[in-house]
Amino acid sequence: MTKITACIFDLDGVIVDTAKYHYQAWHKLAIQLDIPFNEAENEKMKGISRMDSLEMMLALGDKTYTDIDKQKYCAAKNTWYLDLVTDMDQSEILPGILDFIAHLKEEKIKIALGSASKNARKILNLVGLTDSFDDIVDGNDVVKSKPDPEVFLKGAALLKSKPTETIVFEDSAKGIDAAVAGSFRTVGIGQDIHLGHADIVVENLIGMSISDLSKRLESKS
Ligand code: BG6
Ligand code: MG
Repeated sequence: MTKITACIFDLDGVIVDTAKYHYQAWHKLAIQLDIPFNEAENEKMKGISRMDSLEMMLALGDKTYTDIDKQKYCAAKNTWYLDLVTDMDQSEILPGILDFIAHLKEEKIKIALGSASKNARKILNLVGLTDSFDDIVDGNDVVKSKPDPEVFLKGAALLKSKPTETIVFEDSAKGIDAAVAGSFRTVGIGQDIHLGHADIVVENLIGMSISDLSKRLESKS
């Protein structure tokens, strides 16, 4: 069995169902700017910072924008996003997460959040999960966006865990690539087609145990 001492979770699309709200807010901006944008384009933007996402979206159009415009668009997108999440509660925690976190606590596995979002702490508060994490690293704490491993390496440093003994749970290709770049073990949540670089891909964390994951990771070593 692979030795696992800690787990680091992405937030949007792993812990909570907020990926759909990010998409809705970006979509609204795309319509305003007359930029062609769909779910496939949105998939490529998952996991990266707000400004990097905007740059990716603007590249789909044929105009150039000033830095002031870009700041304004990021602010507008964030206002819409915050409107969409304002009534969020525990019901938007994704399937299996609460039980899996409880299981990790029983097994004395440390857990951290590793999110690109500057709204991560607000979202954790809304769904009542802030105290469930031993440490939190979010978009306010890093300078490099996923696929750079900075966010996960900071998380592992806070948890005092070795990347090779730490599992990163991610729903985005950029996030899995970041974890692989940091020498973490990786579990993709979602579809194989987007998460092919992960050690393991699962649909969700319902019924998951650390011993099962360790066994499955062993066969990938
Ligand atoms: C990531 C999301 O977690 O955070 C992205 O996958 C989002 O979709 C990014 O753009 C930044 O989030 P925020 O809340 O700082 O705009
Ligand atoms: Mg995500």
